[in-house]
Amino acid sequence: MPRFPNPESHLMPTDIVIAPITDADVAAVVDLWSRCGLIRPWNDPIADIALARASGDAEVLAARVGGAIVGATMIGHDGHRGAVYYLAVDAERRLGGLGRRLVAAAEDWCRARGVPKINLLVRKENAGVMAFYAALGFADTRSVSLYKTLDADVAEREAAQKADWAAKIATKA
Ligand SMILES: CC(C)(COP(=O)(O)OP(=O)(O)OC[C@H]1O[C@@H](n2cnc3c(N)ncnc32)[C@H](O)[C@@H]1OP(=O)(O)O)[C@@H](O)C(=O)NCCC(=O)NCCS
Repeated sequence: MPRFPNPESHLMPTDIVIAPITDADVAAVVDLWSRCGLIRPWNDPIADIALARASGDAEVLAARVGGAIVGATMIGHDGHRGAVYYLAVDAERRLGGLGRRLVAAAEDWCRARGVPKINLLVRKENAGVMAFYAALGFADTRSVSLYKTLDADVAEREAAQKADWAAKIATKA
């Protein structure tokens, strides 16, 4: 993990191209998310990408340097607020402004659709990333985020996977 500040990762704006992915990029994006620790057993990133891209109200944006994908995020909206998911920057490229650029691209994506606000979730075990979002102007909603898995069988499987995951995290701590 590069130390802050990371002068090696500072890129000229013209070096970076941020654009929606194509089918050919899916494997590289999933690999990036996996390397960045964003995949959980109860989420299928390939299915998540397919659903987002088919919806018309969501997209996966990738940041490229010389053709290689070095960052990515999923952005969508529900007709009221935008939502950022799976934000990741390659570990070698962190602390050089790429995460900020990706979030700015997600914000522009929302603005272009008349969506005035963005929400995002930070997992409790990833609280270290809060300083990044604070630097970008994000604030605590002071609300509790609730969810429900609609299929009972899937919910049961997820509960077991989450319990396994929590146990793994606890043994690492
Ligand atoms: C979070 C992440 C995307 C940030 O990407 P990045 O390219 O390193 O971020 P930037 O260089 O654009 O940083 C923007 C600002 O946040 C600050 N920042 C970034 N990471 C930080 C950290 N871990 N702690 C404190 N501040 C941080 C930077 O110093 C910078 O501040 P400045 O502009 O005032 O100087 C990257 O660390 C990452 O991929 N993490 C793993 C995946 C993850 O946790 N994603 C978020 C899921 S909610």
